[in-house]
Amino acid sequence: MPVRTIIEPFRIKSVEPIQWTTRAEREHLLQAAYYNLFLLAADDVLIDLLTDSGTGAMSTRQWAGIMEGDESYAGGRSFEHFRDSIQDITGYRHVIPTHQGRAAERILFSVACKKGDVVPNNTHFDTTRANVEFVGAVAVDLVIAEGRQPSLKHPFKGNMDVGALESLIGKVGRERIPLVMLTVTNNSGGGQPVSMENVRAVHKVCRRHGIALYFDACRFAENAYFIKLREAGYESKSPKQIAQEMFSYGDGCTMSAKKDGMANIGGFLCTNDDSLAQKEKDLLILTEGYPTYGGLAGRDLEAIAIGLQEALQEDYLRYRIRSTAYLGDHIAEQGVPIVQPPGGHAVYIDARAFLPHIPSDQFPGVALAAELYLEGGIRSVEIGTLMFGSAAKMDLVRLAIPRRVYTQSHIDYVVEVILEVGKNRERIKGLKLSHEAPFLRHFTARLEPLVAVAAR
Ligand SMILES: Cc1ncc(COP(=O)(O)O)c(C=O)c1O
Repeated sequence: MPVRTIIEPFRIKSVEPIQWTTRAEREHLLQAAYYNLFLLAADDVLIDLLTDSGTGAMSTRQWAGIMEGDESYAGGRSFEHFRDSIQDITGYRHVIPTHQGRAAERILFSVACKKGDVVPNNTHFDTTRANVEFVGAVAVDLVIAEGRQPSLKHPFKGNMDVGALESLIGKVGRERIPLVMLTVTNNSGGGQPVSMENVRAVHKVCRRHGIALYFDACRFAENAYFIKLREAGYESKSPKQIAQEMFSYGDGCTMSAKKDGMANIGGFLCTNDDSLAQKEKDLLILTEGYPTYGGLAGRDLEAIAIGLQEALQEDYLRYRIRSTAYLGDHIAEQGVPIVQPPGGHAVYIDARAFLPHIPSDQFPGVALAAELYLEGGIRSVEIGTLMFGSAAKMDLVRLAIPRRVYTQSHIDYVVEVILEVGKNRERIKGLKLSHEAPFLRHFTARLEPLVAVAAR
């Protein structure tokens, strides 16, 4: 019989209770958190869609791997498992463990970039942009024009504009561009995939100019599955074969293993460049740890080694991509404007279109995220003017789905809450900042409503 229902491809062995709060309690909690959902206690959240980073459930095999962890300081067996698993997928010569993705970014940009350099990316993630800028380099986003139009459907909205890359190289000169990055999938641009054709085209431009190509590989497995579903010639290839081909066009990658590494912590940096790797390992020892553990416990290395392979399993990816689309399709059908098509790890509501009465400088995304919390205890995150300041091209609210954590009934509840908020959207008010940090301000910003929210 042809099966239409996509079920969770796992049984639940251990459960973690979640807690209800009343609307009155949430009003008080939101005020106390200065309308910034990062400042809430997680126990006061019912469904936590703040991030898919480090929030996934590990498998029985990963937990077994935890017990096998070799905690030797140098030359541990767990590092060999970690390195072998990563090399099996990426083929890169040097594998450098880090405590998470941003540590890999910091080391890469500190070693490869200097003041005045330019780093093109399809869209820099916030920590990536901040780490580029921290060394005095300029982060340039070159996603295709379709990637900036939330409602437009396109199979690979994460693609880089290859013409724009060529003209940037022509304008600033090859010597100011130490590397080009491709973020797969493109998180800040809506979790949208990059096609193999685009990877190949970017690779060719980089080769012609002698510029290194790096992947921000956080969601490489989801990207591979989108290629399988949407790109001609890849239908019968396995996600792993597709990922292997993609990495073969690059010179290295940064990775947060908290995403498609299926782990709660960890990351890595890979490169094929021997002299760069030496400098990276020297810096690693200074700030992260010895190169065979890099700020992680041996048990973390085991969990990641296993998780990376599990993330490429086809039945897992089918469920993962389909269940995210389920949320997106159900709210879009009822008129909620979302970035189309739904991304791999998250659904992004277009807050500018949902709340057209709130201008960008009054943070429509933050206002909508606050309302979803008030209405149903759901935590989401703004990706827009608060996160990127005037560089923001859109004001989105991201509902990120932790891996293997929530079931369909949780998602049905989320749909219900969003639709309820939609009914009274004209009552939602904008916000103003009362405190901001000099960089990555969204994590700690304090806001206040411009006008008191009308009582219901
Ligand atoms: C595309 C992308 N790059 C880099 C990072 C940074 O990874 P980490 O949070 O492990 O430092 C993230 C994390 O959310 C991400 O989504």
